[in-house]
Formats: sequence, C-alpha cells, structure tokens
Amino acid sequence: MPGKTFDARTDKLLADLRAGGQYKVLQHLTSPMGPLVRTEEYGEVVCLCSNNYLGLADHPEVVAAGQDALDRYGAGTASVRFICGTFDIHRRLERDIAAFVGTEASLTYVSCWNANEALLPTVAAPEDVIISDELNHASIIDSCRLAKAERVRYAHSDMGELKARLVEHAGRPARWVVTDGVFSMEGDLAKLPELVKLCREHDAMLVVDDSHGIGVLGETGRGTPDHFGLLGEVDVLTGTLGKSLGGAAGGYVAASSRLVDLLVQRSRPSLFSNALPATVAASAGRAIQVVRDEPQRVKRLHDNVAVVRAGLRKLGFDVIESPSAILPIMIGDTAEAIAKSRRLLKLGVWVVGFGYPVVPQGQARLRVQVSAALEDEHIARALEAFAKL
Ligand SMILES: Cc1ncc(COP(=O)(O)O)c(C=O)c1O
Repeated sequence: MPGKTFDARTDKLLADLRAGGQYKVLQHLTSPMGPLVRTEEYGEVVCLCSNNYLGLADHPEVVAAGQDALDRYGAGTASVRFICGTFDIHRRLERDIAAFVGTEASLTYVSCWNANEALLPTVAAPEDVIISDELNHASIIDSCRLAKAERVRYAHSDMGELKARLVEHAGRPARWVVTDGVFSMEGDLAKLPELVKLCREHDAMLVVDDSHGIGVLGETGRGTPDHFGLLGEVDVLTGTLGKSLGGAAGGYVAASSRLVDLLVQRSRPSLFSNALPATVAASAGRAIQVVRDEPQRVKRLHDNVAVVRAGLRKLGFDVIESPSAILPIMIGDTAEAIAKSRRLLKLGVWVVGFGYPVVPQGQARLRVQVSAALEDEHIARALEAFAKL
C-alpha cells in the first residue's frame, strides 16, 4: 500500500513521544488572549506563556482598528504585494514601524518567520558570508539555510569567536552578522554595544531579530537598541507584530530604503505570498500608537517582570537576571518539564515546558513570560501555584 513506510515510521515516532512524556497536547482557548484565559481543558487560568507582553491583544482600540479596517477594506487582500495587494494601510504601517524603530523604511510580511526567511536569501550574495549566533531563532536558521552565501556559526554571544570569524572572512564582498535581540528560549539579550562596535570596525552588516524586544525593552518600548541607547545604529531589524504589537500576525524588515526596495523587488515571500491582511495592519498600527501614547504599559511590564522574578527566586527557583520578559526556569529532563507544566495548569497557571528539539537535549525548561496586563492578584496566584510545585 502506498504510504506504508511513512505511516509506520510516523506511528513509531508519535508512540515514542507519548512513551517519553514528550508529546505535545494542544489546549483550546475560548476567550480572548489576556492575563486570564479560559481553556476548554482546564477552565480559567493565569496566562504566563503568551507573547502578549503589553496586553494589547484585546485592547479596545486595537480591536476597533481591526474592525474598522474589516468594514473599509474587506476580509482579504487577495493578492501579493506587487500585483494588487498593496493597500494604503500597508504604507502607513510601514512608515510607522520605520519611525518607531529608527530606520528609513520597512516592509511587512504575513509573519516574522516570513520576514526572516525573505531577508538573507535576498540580500546575501553567494560570495558573502553569514555569521550567525548558535542560539538564533529557527526562522533565522532556516533563512541562513536558504541563502546561497556560506554560513558559519559562533558560540552563543561569544564576541571573541565572532571577531575571529569576521577576521577569517575579511576577503568577502559582504559579511552579515545575524542575531536575536532577545533570545527566545534563554531570555538573555544580545551584546548589542559590542556587536555594533565589531560590525563597524569590520565593515559588516548587523541584522537583529527583535521579535521579543520590540514593545518590551527600553523606556519607550522600541526594543533592544532602545535598551542600549543604540536606536538607529543597527543596519537591519526584523520583528514580529504577533507578540507585543497586538499579537495577531505579521512581521517586518526595517532597514535602509535601498535594502527595503530590494526586498520589494526580489524577496520571494513578498513576490509569491499574499500581503498582510488590512485588518491586521490596522490593529498593529494602532498598537504602535498605543505604545507611544501609554508609556505606562512598558513601565508596568518592567515592574511585573521584576516582581515575578523576585517572587520565583524567593521560592528557590533559579531565574537568570535580564531585562527581558522571558524568565526560563531550568528543569533538564523534557518529560519532567512537561509534567511540571501540566501540574501548574491543574493549579490554574499556564506555563509551558520546552524540551528537545526546541531546546538542546537535557536543557528542558519551564518558560515564564510576563505581561503588563497581569494584575497584582494574578501574579500572587501564579506564585502560590509555583510554591505548591
Ligand atoms: C526571535 C523570533 N523570531 C521570529 C519569530 C516568528 O515570528 P512570527 O510568529 O511572526 O512568525 C519568533 C516567534 O516565535 C521569534 O521568537
């Protein structure tokens, strides 16, 4: 029978995952994303695992902007950008993103996965080299794989090794250094001051994926460069609209007008895949406006991060120091991390356990993510559950 081999090996893989306690079970929400969410399986729980860092996913103005756009532009773009899928709202959003992060221009995609995948294969020539942090997000890794340039890695945030790689590849027409701004599984920040300095000294292009930094870091929430006082100093920023900025979907590349124009002309996800829906563009645009108008949200997020970290440490959990809103608690064994996360859910707190292959074998963890939307009582409830754990 056709497909017998596939069926057998897939059944074995799924059975192994179940036997090893590594099988992922999807939970279904019946409420909007917020500090408290209703799940079909566990009822109402405090949510400490969404990327809704600023609590904008159900912000009335962000929702209303999407609804207005639905009335005005309809349900879909029904086209890629260069044919007939570019609406005036795309132009407005792209100008707003560029102004917010301090670049000349930006281009949106339906996700940051797409934005990352679009970038390196388009901008890096076969003779170039891409130098990538070993803990970069999967979408950057795939982008590197798709690019024709040679790819080399450096050990996580090891600036000595990065420098050596830059020197080793000095003869290349262009060198692209690629890093996450905030590392999504560790919660630590890229060493941006050193990265900027090294790239300047070696005439390399610096690309920072700031998906977990945008809206989170810096007093004005403009991301990792804002945190380090380096706005305008990074050559290329990518980021998502699917986390702090409304949480729906969408991503962007923000850079020079020249680079953005090249992406419009040549990047495959833009040429061959539909444009960002107008509803999402409108909500994300309003989310940026809210971040500008309500700086207290970013402040509340920073305060909540400090309270949650201090509370977890008081309970004896080992949580690294970092200004990001990602607080990983190292567990080690994948099955144990997943079991602990299930126990927390039963106690009314949603924290996800991450294991192999999302993180290396033996480094499974619970990843706590903090939101500005969490009230004091939600944090207290969460810490009580951790105390029982
Ligand atoms: C660092 C990083 N880059 C890119 C992405 C992908 O973003 P999106 O959901 O918009 O595709 C994520 C999402 O998990 C991420 O953490």
